[in-house]
Amino acid sequence: MAMYLSLPNQKGGVGKTTLSLHLAWRCQELGLRVLAVDLDPQGNFSESLLGVDSLDMVEVEDNALYEKLDQQQKEGVFCRRSYHLLNSELPAPLKPVPTNYPGLDVIPSLITDSSLQAVNKQPVDDAIYPKIHLQSIDHDYDVVVIDVPPQKDTLQLAGVIASRKIVLPVVMSAYPMRGIRAMMDTIKELKAIGVKVDLVGVLVNIYSLSLIHI
Ligand SMILES: Nc1ncnc2c1ncn2[C@@H]1O[C@H](COP(=O)(O)OP(=O)(O)O)[C@@H](O)[C@H]1O
Ligand SMILES: [Mg+2]
Repeated sequence: MAMYLSLPNQKGGVGKTTLSLHLAWRCQELGLRVLAVDLDPQGNFSESLLGVDSLDMVEVEDNALYEKLDQQQKEGVFCRRSYHLLNSELPAPLKPVPTNYPGLDVIPSLITDSSLQAVNKQPVDDAIYPKIHLQSIDHDYDVVVIDVPPQKDTLQLAGVIASRKIVLPVVMSAYPMRGIRAMMDTIKELKAIGVKVDLVGVLVNIYSLSLIHI
C-alpha cells in the first residue's frame, strides 16, 4: 500500500504547498512512484507541477468527459481533476496526469477551481470519498502527497482523512502557532470518531531569528 502524507495547518503561508512540492520531487528523485493530489482550489501545487498550459489541457479533457457522457460514449474518457474525488461514485475511471518527471503524476485542481470550491457546499460526510477513490489506484504508487487548503472545510478534512501520516508545518509566530493548535484539535476530533491519523511531527519552516522576540 502507498504511504499517504499531507502537511496541513489551519493557516495560510506556512509552506504547506512548497513543502508538499519538495517532498513530491525528492521522492521522485529517489526513484519512488509518486502521486500528487491537489485539494486546494488555489491550484498552486498543480501549477508548479504541470504548468499553466498543461492545466488548460486538463480542463479541456475534463469538460469533454461530460460532453461524452451526455452522448453515452463513456469509453476513452477519464476523470482527470481532483473535484471528482468528492463524488460518491466516479463518472469515469480516474486517470492521474503525468508530469515531465518520470514516476510523478498529479490529480490536479485548476487555478481558482470553482468546481473544487463548490465541494465545500457538500455535506462534511463526503470527505471520506477521496480516500476510497485514491485507494483504487494507489497500487501504482509508493507515495501519495496531498496538498490541502488552510480553512477547516470539507476539502481539508478530506485530505487529512485520506492521509495516514500528517506533518504539521509551522512558522514561529503567533497566528501559524494558533493554526497548529486548531489543526491538532481537528485531528483529535477525527481520532475520536475512529479515523486513523498518525501525527509524525511538527516541522518548523521559514525560520528567522528576527521572528523570535526574547
Ligand atoms: N522554507 C522556505 N523558505 C523560504 N520561503 C518559503 C519556504 N517555504 C515557503 N516559502 C514561501 O512562503 C510562501 C508561502 O508558501 P506556501 O507553500 O504557498 O504556503 P501555504 O501553502 O501554507 O499557503 C511562498 O511564497 C513560498 O515560496
Ligand atoms: Mg498552499
